[in-house]
Amino acid sequence: MSDSFVYPGTFDPVTEGHMDIIRRASSLCQHLVVAVLDNDAKRTVFSVEERVRMLELATADMDNVSIRAFSGLTAEYMKITGNKTLVRGLRAVSDFDYELQMALLNKSINPNLDTVFLLANQDHLYLSSSVVRDLAKHKADLTGFVPEEIKEIVAEKFCSNCK
Ligand code: PNS
Repeated sequence: MSDSFVYPGTFDPVTEGHMDIIRRASSLCQHLVVAVLDNDAKRTVFSVEERVRMLELATADMDNVSIRAFSGLTAEYMKITGNKTLVRGLRAVSDFDYELQMALLNKSINPNLDTVFLLANQDHLYLSSSVVRDLAKHKADLTGFVPEEIKEIVAEKFCSNCK
């Protein structure tokens, strides 16, 4: 049985807001697993392999962080891996309803679970993967929105005549 904190999400793609949560959560535990949802029903721009790869590049210098893909229910994934603590970031009141519902549902499926919420840094309150995708579509500079290590990868995904 392991005892890592687990930060689940879609990460389509990882943003600087996610990175802030990853940095802070990893300083609160021995080991942090960033769990990337592989879900056919949730259409993503980046494949699960691409999303995992981008997170690996962005966290390469973090010794106690590992990146895993998972499918199915988060609560079941936690049972299988023997972990008990989920981490989620909260940006605004608008996130709260969904996060409360998810945390309560996860706990009802797996009563051993708890969810730790970290408040987003105020610099990132507006930031989301969908904002990043929109910026990239319009060829905006992604500096400060996504980690440096993945800027090119994200920009190229939306560039029809780069190659
Ligand atoms: O980054 P996101 O898209 O806000 O992450 C949402 C995620 C992946 C954590 C959530 O959708 C999830 O846990 N999905 C797995 C399926 C599941 O457990 N559903 C029940 C809780 S909503």
